[in-house]
Amino acid sequence: VEHKFNKIVNYIKSIYNSDKVFLHEPHFCGNEKEYLNDCIDSTYVSSVGKYVDLFEKKVALYTGAEHAVACVNGTSAIHIALILSGVKCDDEVITQPLTFIATANAIKYCNASPVFVDVDKDTMGLSPLALEHFLKNNAELNSNGCFNHLTKKRISACLPVHTYGFPCRIDEIVEICNQYQIPVIEDAAESIGSVYKGKHTGTFGKVGIISFNGNKTITTGGGGMLLFMDEDLYKKAKHVTTQAKMPHPWKFEHDKIGYNYRMPNINAAVGVAQMEQLDLFLESKRKLAEQYLNFFYKLDIQCATEIKYAKANYWLNCIFMKGRQKRDEFLNYTNNNGVMTRPAWKLMNELPMYKSCQSSDLKNAHWLEERLVNIPSSVIL
Ligand SMILES: Cc1ncc(COP(=O)(O)O)c(C=O)c1O
Repeated sequence: VEHKFNKIVNYIKSIYNSDKVFLHEPHFCGNEKEYLNDCIDSTYVSSVGKYVDLFEKKVALYTGAEHAVACVNGTSAIHIALILSGVKCDDEVITQPLTFIATANAIKYCNASPVFVDVDKDTMGLSPLALEHFLKNNAELNSNGCFNHLTKKRISACLPVHTYGFPCRIDEIVEICNQYQIPVIEDAAESIGSVYKGKHTGTFGKVGIISFNGNKTITTGGGGMLLFMDEDLYKKAKHVTTQAKMPHPWKFEHDKIGYNYRMPNINAAVGVAQMEQLDLFLESKRKLAEQYLNFFYKLDIQCATEIKYAKANYWLNCIFMKGRQKRDEFLNYTNNNGVMTRPAWKLMNELPMYKSCQSSDLKNAHWLEERLVNIPSSVIL
C-alpha cells in the first residue's frame, strides 16, 4: 500500500515539477496587473467601473447566457438567485447533500430549509431519478404551487450542483421540475467551462451562478456571477444587488430591501484578464485529467469522468479509494508527503445545522463521500 501511495506522490510531484503540490493554485500570467493599474489610475475601484460591465459581458458571451450580473462572491449570487426565484420564509428548497456548505447556507439566508435528495454516482450531482421519486412520493401541485405533504411546506426551488465541475443531468432535472412548477437554480460555482449537450452549465435553469473564488478555474480574488436568460429577472438582480437604489443623479432613494452584493471594479479587472486565459486553462486541465486517467487506470484506481454529452472543466480531479479506511490512509500519506489532497465535504445532512432537514435515501452520496479524494488540479503552463 505504501508503495502504491508513494508512486502516486512521486507521479504528481513529477507532473508539477515540485516537491510541494497544492490542490488548486491560481495563475496570473495575462493582463491582470495592467488592468489593475488601469483601474487604480482611473480611481474607479469600487462598484462602478468599466471592468464590471466588461466582465459581465464577457461571461455572458462565453456561457451563452443572455445576461450576467457580477456579485461579491458565489454565495451572495445563490442568495439573490433564491430571492428572485421567489423563495420565501418557511419554504423548502431541494438540493443535494454532497456540496460545499454555501449551497445549503444560502437557502437558510432566505429562512427556508434545504431538503436533501441523492446524487448520481457518475455525475456526483443531483439525481433526476431520485428527484422524481422524491417528488412523486412527497409533493403535490395545487394552485399555489408545489407542496410537500409531509411538512405542508411549499417547495419553491430546486438547486442542483455541477459538482467539482462535472455537469449533472441538468436537462432531465429541469424537465421534472417543470412538471411540478419548481424553478431550477443551477449552482455552477465550480463549473465555468463545463458544457452539457452543447450548452454551458448554469444556462439550463431559471438562474445559474458561478464562483470566482481563489480556488476556482479562474478567479477574481472573491467574486460570483448570476446568469440569466430572462431580461426582467436580470434587471431585478442588478437592482437588488446594488442596495435597490432608484436611479437618480443625486437622490438616495430605495424601493425595497437590497444588498451590497455588487462586485468591485478591482476584482472585475482581474476577472477580465482571467477570462482572456480561460480557454488556455481549460485545455491544460483536460490534458492533466487525461494523464491522471491513464496513470490511475494502471494502478486500478477509478477517476471521475464525464458522462455522455458532458464536457467537464475538470476543476478538481477526483479519484475513488476502496473505502473510508483506505481513503483516510491515502489522505494522511499524501498530505504528510507534500501532495495536497482533500476528501469530499462532510454531507450537509450530517452537519448540526441541517441534520433535522428532510432527506431522501442518500446511498450514492454516502458511497461517494466514503471514497472520494480530490487530487492536485492546478493549471500547468
Ligand atoms: C458548489 C459551490 N457552491 C457555492 C460556492 C460559493 O462560492 P463563493 O466561495 O464564491 O462564495 C462554492 C465555492 O466556493 C462552491 O464550490
